[in-house]
Amino acid sequence: MFKSLVRCYSTALPNKQTVLPRFTFPVANTSISLINKNLSKYLNNKHEKITLNGHINRKPRIRSTLGFVHLRDENGDEIQLFATPNTTSDAIFKLLKEVSVEDSISVSGYIQSKESKANKQEVELVIEDFHILNPSNLEAARLEKLKQSSPKDIPPQFRYLQLRTPFFQNALRTRSKISKLIRDILIENHNFVEIETPLLFKSTPEGAREFLVPTRSSKFYALPQSPQQYKQILMSSGFTKYFQLAKCFRDEDLRSDRQPEFTQIDLEMSFINNSDQIGLVVEDLIHNIWNKIGNKSTYKVNSIGNLERITNFDGLQFEKLDYIDALTKYGIDKPDLRYNLEFENLQDYFVNENNEFPIVEACILRNAGHIPKSFTDGLNFKRKPFVWMIKNEEDKLIQNKVKGIYVKNANYNLDLNIGDVIAISTRSEFPYENPTPLGKFRQLTIQEFPDKYKRPIEENGKLITNYNHDVIVGSWVVNFPLFNPVELESDIYPKYDYTKFQSTHHPFTMCKIEDYDLLETDPLKVRGEHYDLVINGVEIGGGSRRIHDSELQNYIFRNILKINNIDELFGHLLKALSMGCPPHAGLAIGFDRLCAMIIGSSSIKDVIAFPKNQSGVDPVVDSPTQVNREVLSEYHITVNK
Ligand code: AMO
Repeated sequence: MFKSLVRCYSTALPNKQTVLPRFTFPVANTSISLINKNLSKYLNNKHEKITLNGHINRKPRIRSTLGFVHLRDENGDEIQLFATPNTTSDAIFKLLKEVSVEDSISVSGYIQSKESKANKQEVELVIEDFHILNPSNLEAARLEKLKQSSPKDIPPQFRYLQLRTPFFQNALRTRSKISKLIRDILIENHNFVEIETPLLFKSTPEGAREFLVPTRSSKFYALPQSPQQYKQILMSSGFTKYFQLAKCFRDEDLRSDRQPEFTQIDLEMSFINNSDQIGLVVEDLIHNIWNKIGNKSTYKVNSIGNLERITNFDGLQFEKLDYIDALTKYGIDKPDLRYNLEFENLQDYFVNENNEFPIVEACILRNAGHIPKSFTDGLNFKRKPFVWMIKNEEDKLIQNKVKGIYVKNANYNLDLNIGDVIAISTRSEFPYENPTPLGKFRQLTIQEFPDKYKRPIEENGKLITNYNHDVIVGSWVVNFPLFNPVELESDIYPKYDYTKFQSTHHPFTMCKIEDYDLLETDPLKVRGEHYDLVINGVEIGGGSRRIHDSELQNYIFRNILKINNIDELFGHLLKALSMGCPPHAGLAIGFDRLCAMIIGSSSIKDVIAFPKNQSGVDPVVDSPTQVNREVLSEYHITVNK
């Protein structure tokens, strides 16, 4: 179907009679949805001349005496176009025989009821004038088949054909509505100022690998991983509330929720002494976006572990969950709290022979009936928990089942029943491994049993369990360790160098006030003033209170992170902090992740017009490309193949 697109272009000036009519045509004076809304005005009224522009949506049916064509307009609505040799000129009837699916057209005429549906108010447009503005050159039948199965089956290099389908039209239009709502809320309700910061930034070790931009002066810019440092400098520039829909760039491994180029709703506030003030603004955005655009309520986990619809928007609503609790109960720092599967600690009953991982824990799937298939189908993770299903009374005795784990005290009772599935694994005392093996098992379980282990919704004193699992449950994960030990090459169990530290998030995060002295004595015990916003198991955003004291920031760079050339890398920030920069805090929401969740998709590619594929390639323009030697030499670059 698409091979025909590899065209041989002629060297001659194209024929005037073919080309120029494509530039002079009647422009639409209404839309299909407006026609349907005002049918009485248009129906059988030949004086009410209508012009529509759009694409041919399905394979036309043109017989010798009758022609049916379907036009899709810019809103994705469809209308049947009707012609007979009596209603339409010979020339137009002949032209209709040439149209193909996805041609762009302009059509004029009047509205009548469809003959077979005279009573049902289904209408069609009688063609009086018709222009093909550009043929699609596509094999209609095959393209139509692809569009019907899934627009994503259309090859990605023809992204524009994917984007013409209702699914993608809705996705990108919803994204646009969300950005408008965000601007309205932040500017009108909260007095924020939208400020753009440079995309040509500087190479600094902030966390992820950067994209470098060479210059002719032999020096490099770097594309920003986020506008973190500029927004902190803006706080030193007299702006107290900044935001931006910011393009960010990270050269990291790609997954369905990661792109090398993505967008954040980035915000920062100064003269605040409490991170909840950021949380309040963020929750105002989140509840409004879901209520007004996602048409869904937001929920929180209440004090007895049930889901509760959020109806009161005063104060922070989402539950705050300690990093340690998240890891010990759910094995991950972004738990999907729609499900109440919590782990059981078996430390008192079992010993692991690897004493760096002394905690033995279990995840029990009561009455599951089978082990999650996605788990048995060999998902390849290094450290798999030991999983089995209880088949008989014998099986209930779980001694000696797990290699390397020995019974310490046989006096335990997990209350197992036939049909239960049990997964056992180990972790270190303080869980730097994130997710833990059991955390991954929990995630696979949730995918496999989306309805079995969900929390009940508590409404008017009643517990509801038979609800659609697609509720929106948010939480704030707090009290992360400020630093992690540097991870070393390892085989099955992870290994760490506990004398070398790296920032858990970024080096600008302030510590908990009460942990200040530990910065000097035991940095790994210091907790950060960091908060992640997690919705349905997706990390939607992250932020923190910042270090606005340049001495303290310098201490962290030098004494803890052991950065050598601080002046060169971060001198700009230290200077800006040292000149009366007020206390500040901020957060960034992953805009693509948020939009994907709003349209109910698990892939951020669905809400990005031109995403990169798994190899970082943009299939439409086929980038990145090689650059010829002459250009490279201007940048003093030689490429070693
Ligand atoms: P962080 O690195 O946590 O914080 O990023 C904030 C949010 O951005 C989204 N995100 C991504 N989305 C798509 N593709 C990616 N490759 C990608 N990486 C991150 C996530 C994430 O929660 N400067 C700080 C924020 C701050 O402290 O204010 C930052 O960038 O949803």
